[in-house]
Amino acid sequence: MSLASTVQTRTDLAFQRCIMRSCAATYDIGEVRTSCDVCGSLLDVVYDWDALPVPRSMSEFEAKWSRRHEPLCHSGVWRFYELLPFAPPAKIVSIGEGQTLLHTSDGVANYVGVQPGKLFLQYEGMNPSGSFKDNGMTAAFTHAHTTGAKRAACASTGNTSASLALYCGVSKLMRAIIFIGSGRISYGKLSQALDYGALTIQIAGDFDDAMQRVQQVSSKQGIYLVNSVNPFRLEGQKTIMYRVLEAMRWEVPDWIVVPGGNLGNSSAFGKAFHELLELGLIDRAPRLAVINAAGANTLYELYERRGLRWNGGEPGFGISHDYYGEMDTTGRRASTIASAIEINRPVNLWKCLRALECCDGVVREVSDEQMLNAKAQVGANGLGCEPASAASVAGAKLLREEGVIAPGERVVCILTGHQLKDPTATVAYHTHDQAEFNRVLGSRGVSRAEFANRAVQVENSLDEIIRAIELNS
Ligand code: F0G
Repeated sequence: MSLASTVQTRTDLAFQRCIMRSCAATYDIGEVRTSCDVCGSLLDVVYDWDALPVPRSMSEFEAKWSRRHEPLCHSGVWRFYELLPFAPPAKIVSIGEGQTLLHTSDGVANYVGVQPGKLFLQYEGMNPSGSFKDNGMTAAFTHAHTTGAKRAACASTGNTSASLALYCGVSKLMRAIIFIGSGRISYGKLSQALDYGALTIQIAGDFDDAMQRVQQVSSKQGIYLVNSVNPFRLEGQKTIMYRVLEAMRWEVPDWIVVPGGNLGNSSAFGKAFHELLELGLIDRAPRLAVINAAGANTLYELYERRGLRWNGGEPGFGISHDYYGEMDTTGRRASTIASAIEINRPVNLWKCLRALECCDGVVREVSDEQMLNAKAQVGANGLGCEPASAASVAGAKLLREEGVIAPGERVVCILTGHQLKDPTATVAYHTHDQAEFNRVLGSRGVSRAEFANRAVQVENSLDEIIRAIELNS
């Protein structure tokens, strides 16, 4: 069957399945659930590929470029429909997400320490709501729509909520209800949710508190939950990797480097590569590097320090249980300027461990100062991103310094969010006002802004202005 043919989604061709090998309970594709009834673990969306029209080669997707007037070919998510065929095409809700680009940046390559032409930035800030979340939201929202949901909720550090609010605002199909930790989200993101008309519930607590509450409230009130515990979210986020491959003319890079927060992206990327291998559409997976903020380093601690592994589907639950117990008894809570990834208990931990196994992965932590310096380099080389996104570049630099990444390897860093998401952090980094620097960044252990581009202050006098320009340019 050709890719151009209309695919009829039959519920027996796609279903939900518990990720744990010893359980593997299955559920109908139409069910609304975020965990397994039998063992409580996460669920995957699984396809019967033998009965579905899958391409013989990834380049077959190029045929869709000439049909860009059709919304589903225009979307950077849905033009890969055959690799996430869980919903009937007529039910898909798309707002043109995923029109994102892979940029080669020699300036950032130089900073990271790889050869010119080897460093790529996948700029997900170009999405309609300014972050990668739209890739997943179009998928979860579509599933919600197929189930007839009228209200959708999420807990968020800001980007998921902005994305949900946007899909609700544009489609008018559902009411957005968002849970945020009070004072824990940047103004850029909060302003989006308010402007798009979401019902915004500000909880006295952090992201993890909001996450726990939204799960309780959603199941009690029958509200559709779009956080990345929702397996359909991750189906959409797989397409970020398809677009990377597309931009590299279907060649697999050596490294994918991604910030780690709730670990949805890293999990989705692992599933994408696992499926492409299974389908024979690629012959090897890239290596995966997940980068935590040092102030929110649960994955780093569990994976690199305590040796927690997926172990073919039989992970050591005791290791994470003990660690979370220690966190609770010592009262330790995540704290980082990268508010997007200020998370204690990443909900996709097990799926991420599986992705690390599939992609021979590594995990690193970077300080707020390392992230902000990397962010300034991304900005100075023309794109800009929010602090959490720059963890990928800071992490690539660290892995290069360690010799884990070789200078000639092709490295793709995912820039997850737009530069304008968090102007407070950016302005504080570049400010000449020491008190402001100390208040926003010094309090987080940032001692120096290596690449600060300070505004020049001058009297309102023509001579003084010209003198300042001549002196500085
Ligand atoms: N980068 C940005 C800009 C984010 O907003 C997030 C997560 C991440 C990275 C981490 O991605 O969870 O897939 O590991 N933001 C979530 C939110 C938590 O609520 O917007 P992850």
